Amino acid sequence: MGKDVIIACDFSNKEEVANFLSKFTEEKPYVKVGMELFYAEGPEIIKFISSMGHKIFLDLKLHDIPNTVRKAMKVLSGYNIDMVNIHAAGTIPMMEAATEGLTRKDGSRPLLVAVTQLTSIDEERMKQEILIDKPMEEVVMHYAKCAKNAGLDGVVCSPLEAKKVHDLCGKEFLTVTPGVRFVDNDSGDQVRITTPAKAKELGSDYIVVGRPVTQDKDPVEAYRRFIREFAG
Ligand code: C5P
Repeated sequence: MGKDVIIACDFSNKEEVANFLSKFTEEKPYVKVGMELFYAEGPEIIKFISSMGHKIFLDLKLHDIPNTVRKAMKVLSGYNIDMVNIHAAGTIPMMEAATEGLTRKDGSRPLLVAVTQLTSIDEERMKQEILIDKPMEEVVMHYAKCAKNAGLDGVVCSPLEAKKVHDLCGKEFLTVTPGVRFVDNDSGDQVRITTPAKAKELGSDYIVVGRPVTQDKDPVEAYRRFIREFAG
């Protein structure tokens, strides 16, 4: 599986996305569509971006009862997307139902990855509010193992956890990692961050980068710099 940089297109409408993507005249970056854009524009935004030739990671983080997730995934299986995600906290029956729903009649399906613990949740809050009193790393590794047992393709995690996930779940099990910055970038609200070169060294398969590309004066050059350091 080749390494790639996924640009988080965290824009609020189609015009902003179209304006941003039109700057890329030579390469066709892999694009992440999140809840904000998808709920604003609906499935049309997927048709629009895929018609321009981009791969799409649809980041909707489904988490509901297995029957509902199975049916929702069946709908998403009809979209021209390459990757979609769910919360591992939905447990194995929900993850298995998601896989079933997403699988098309011909047996093909987009990649399915699970969010382990959101990077916005710290160990203290996890303990106080979700009543999980294990160390964060142990929780993330356990969720990764459950996702693998449920037949998923990988997890969304911190790049700092990528190596351990691969040691536990195998090299083929994908690690999709946000929280990547150049040392000279503003880290924004990301806390567990690393550089693209370090993410590569730790074995991340895909890095998800938003603001360091979308807010740069020259987004195409910023993207190329990420590609050079991570996938080059
Ligand atoms: O702008 P930035 O590079 O921080 O964007 C990272 C992207 O990855 C955002 O779309 C954010 O929602 C997403 N993400 C994250 N941490 C997670 C899961 C998703 O930063 N644990």
